[in-house]
Amino acid sequence: LGRNIVHYPEISSTQKIGHQLALEGAAEGTVIIADQQTEGKGRMGRKWHSAKNEGIWMSIILRPQIIPQLAPQITLMTAVILAKAIETVTEVSPAIKWPNDIFINNRKTAGILTEMQAEQDEIQYIVLGIGINVNQSRDNLPEDIQKIATSIKQESGKQWRLVPLIQEIFIQFEQKYETFLQKGFTDIKEEWEMYGYKIGEQVRISSNKLTYPAKLIGLETDGALKVQKQDGSTESIYSAEILW
Ligand code: BTN
Repeated sequence: LGRNIVHYPEISSTQKIGHQLALEGAAEGTVIIADQQTEGKGRMGRKWHSAKNEGIWMSIILRPQIIPQLAPQITLMTAVILAKAIETVTEVSPAIKWPNDIFINNRKTAGILTEMQAEQDEIQYIVLGIGINVNQSRDNLPEDIQKIATSIKQESGKQWRLVPLIQEIFIQFEQKYETFLQKGFTDIKEEWEMYGYKIGEQVRISSNKLTYPAKLIGLETDGALKVQKQDGSTESIYSAEILW
């Protein structure tokens, strides 16, 4: 990873370019990175604020030979990679909020957007989008997200160079992705749990208009969230909303 990098000073979205290049046949491991995005995309149709040189805005093209149903595990793996890289380089303590947001001190610092092109049982390609807020001061984040978002600078009190952090992400990515392709999700699951936000704590689960308290236990082997209800029974959560 990192041998084939396409860099733009400014682009609409590295995801968009990622799809174009993947359709043109770009190799696995191609990285698209931008100093600034004018139309950064978040999950669920949201915008991702991507100001110039204030964070890492990149997309990675992957072509894993796995069934499409396992793709969410790649997103969980990426969350571990980001948490580890951030921790190694900046010495802050990140946590992974299920399924894959990176939190520092209860506010979101990084997000992952996994977009997949698949036909039947085969993945054509994945464009894995990574956005990390690194050097924004509070006022540089849009007002509507100041309460829920943060940057590494805000939490560490220091400005960080982007390149060493990007390099560490590449190093972690090579290791973890290789392990994942060879051995599957097991090792990664354990690491994810070490970083898991509120693991062992009580939250509320909201599903079908019902909300109930439950304790977060960890991940299932397939990446679902394992919780324990008050009657002691456990449940696997795939899509319900967690009221943190
Ligand atoms: C989220 O909503 O948490 C995911 C945010 C993903 C943002 C990154 S920035 C690089 C890549 N290009 C985009 O337009 N989005 C992703």
